[in-house]
Amino acid sequence: MEDHITTCIGSPNIAFIKYWGKRNEELILPTNSSLSMTLDESINTKTSVTLSKNLKGDSIFINMEEQKPESKSAYKLFSIMRYMKKLASTDKKISVISENNFPTSSGIASSASGSATLVYALSHALNLNLSQRELSIIARQISGSACRSIFGGLVMWERGILEDGSDSFAKQLFDNNYWSDLIDIIAIVSVDKKKISSRAGMKKTVETSPLYKTRPEIAEINLKTAIQAITNKNFDELAGVIMRDSNNMHATMRDTYPPIVYMNDISNQIVNAVNVLNDSLSEKICAYTFDAGPNAHIITTKSNENMVMNMLHEVKGIKTILHSGVGFGPRLIQK
Ligand code: PMV
Repeated sequence: MEDHITTCIGSPNIAFIKYWGKRNEELILPTNSSLSMTLDESINTKTSVTLSKNLKGDSIFINMEEQKPESKSAYKLFSIMRYMKKLASTDKKISVISENNFPTSSGIASSASGSATLVYALSHALNLNLSQRELSIIARQISGSACRSIFGGLVMWERGILEDGSDSFAKQLFDNNYWSDLIDIIAIVSVDKKKISSRAGMKKTVETSPLYKTRPEIAEINLKTAIQAITNKNFDELAGVIMRDSNNMHATMRDTYPPIVYMNDISNQIVNAVNVLNDSLSEKICAYTFDAGPNAHIITTKSNENMVMNMLHEVKGIKTILHSGVGFGPRLIQK
């Protein structure tokens, strides 16, 4: 009997307004809405799904490593895969092979990229015909930020208010051509796996940080400012709110007990270098933002790329620099 192989490609996203904290752990419902830019295909996850009656059982390999269904990091992947198989009413076994072309678990949203691409590839492999909204809701339940990587361009994840999470999904606000001058320059300062996962980290923050109580309201205000800045293509204003939102999220991490510190000395030097450059020009031409890791994302525009690169070359300890424009979201490459 012939096996069917479906291959899809997808990318991480970088949040301009961050998600950090859930109101429902199981369904992954956030305390605030968030906004991100989907990266382009130069930074990608490629996922192949094989459907077959001849396989012994379901399996998932990520970067050549077999995932154990009972492990903390993979049980969601397996349960979503079972759920999607049930939707398709198939008793075939599934083998998933997923590869990232960038460091996993180091603050480049590998879980977002991997989870979104998996859901996208499974829906194609199983001929499920799901809408992007439905895919976003499914991806959200593996890893929150994954719901944004179902779309390209500039994407908002609406927090929703319903208990069952049916109104908590991402939507595209602006497509990848709207502000195609925007770029993310990623300064990799470490490829080590993070010591505390975002899942565990944000739970501790919600439980122990007094400062976190103000976070949902601040994030919602920042979100409005960011959308306004994008609508007006006002980079100076966008840069300001991106940096303030990153600072605010990392402040709540610091305020967690025991404190969570993802940024390191090199990250802090990059923050200073960005501020010095912007100050010297009396205009914000670039913005730093950090996820749950020490690697810096510098959001800027193509016209200022050289200036930002010169700035980064002055910072000692950066291992690699990646560049990405605004991506168009996941797509099918083989079926
Ligand atoms: O979706 P998770 O569980 O990987 O959490 C991501 C959280 C941040 O990357 C820090 C912020 C965000 O909105 O992407």
